[in-house]
Amino acid sequence: MSNKILLAPIQGVTDYQFRNTYNKFFKGVDYMYSPYLRVDKDMQLRNSKVKDILPENNKDINLVPQIMTNKPEEFIYMSKLLFDKGYEHINWNLGCPFPMVTNRELGSGLLPHHNKIEDVLAKVLPVIPVKLSIKMRIGFEDEEEIFKILPVLDKFPVLEIIIHPRTGKQMYKGEVNTDVFEKCLALTKHKICYNGDINTLDDYNKLSSRFKTVKSWMLGRGLIANPFLAMQINQNDKDFSDNKMDIFREFHDILSEEYMKNLSGPSHLLNKMRVFWEYFSLSFTNSHKVYKRVKKATSISKYKIAVEQNCSSESWIA
Ligand SMILES: Cc1cc2nc3c(=O)[nH]c(=O)nc-3n(C[C@H](O)[C@H](O)[C@H](O)COP(=O)(O)O)c2cc1C
Repeated sequence: MSNKILLAPIQGVTDYQFRNTYNKFFKGVDYMYSPYLRVDKDMQLRNSKVKDILPENNKDINLVPQIMTNKPEEFIYMSKLLFDKGYEHINWNLGCPFPMVTNRELGSGLLPHHNKIEDVLAKVLPVIPVKLSIKMRIGFEDEEEIFKILPVLDKFPVLEIIIHPRTGKQMYKGEVNTDVFEKCLALTKHKICYNGDINTLDDYNKLSSRFKTVKSWMLGRGLIANPFLAMQINQNDKDFSDNKMDIFREFHDILSEEYMKNLSGPSHLLNKMRVFWEYFSLSFTNSHKVYKRVKKATSISKYKIAVEQNCSSESWIA
């Protein structure tokens, strides 16, 4: 398969422990994008964020670190820091929809201001030592903002533009606008990657047969819910394996052990694993019940019982 599969950045989920454990059990993902890095007022990055992108924590992973900023000096600082860590390609977040971010004209909050996007790129691209890709939505409030931004991006050497065809205001709800995505393909000279709501092999096949010129596909929540998805896409076969539950169970156990090593205390671990089960449960029969069992577990021993019940009394349906 010549198409590339990219793991989407999901803050709190696709961290280095997840990425490494995923790689031990599953194949099919070509590049993994880190959740965004952002500097504080004093131009400092949080230690936990730096840890997430350290090369020693990302061995055998094609990692693309993502940054979020609207200030050239921060952009240049983070680019140089990442280059010094060995990265040659970084990604700029123009998609985050959360008001705390967008109110500051960051993430998708920068999309209505194409002049600012142009200004930032004009200042940073001549001096940063790394190649840049951009991950964006089609607009903040208006679905057609992107039509004004793509001509701006055409002026610059951008490696790839990953488009999630929702507006920031939509958050993660409502339909993806594949018609706007289709129009974008004709309006840019850059390589475009599709991202959004690919949850099944069928979703991928429909989109990839509609957008034949698109060669890279970013998977997020669908891949967390069903870690086999990239392999199903690679082999064009949903049922390529008949022991998915056993493989999932082993993957889950190693993943929770990794977090046990790194997180302080049981409640931290339980909270972390609950987030995963919001996604995993979607691949089980009785997904509501599956999630509820985990959510109700108030100790590690109860959590283990819940996982055992989920994996032995339910079936893997994805
Ligand atoms: C909880 C959560 C956290 C996210 N964090 C990031 C992030 O740090 N950077 C980013 O570019 N996108 C982030 N995203 C967006 C995803 O990368 C992706 O664009 C979105 O979920 C749509 O793709 P999907 O339908 O395949 O999940 C996040 C999404 C969710 C649900």
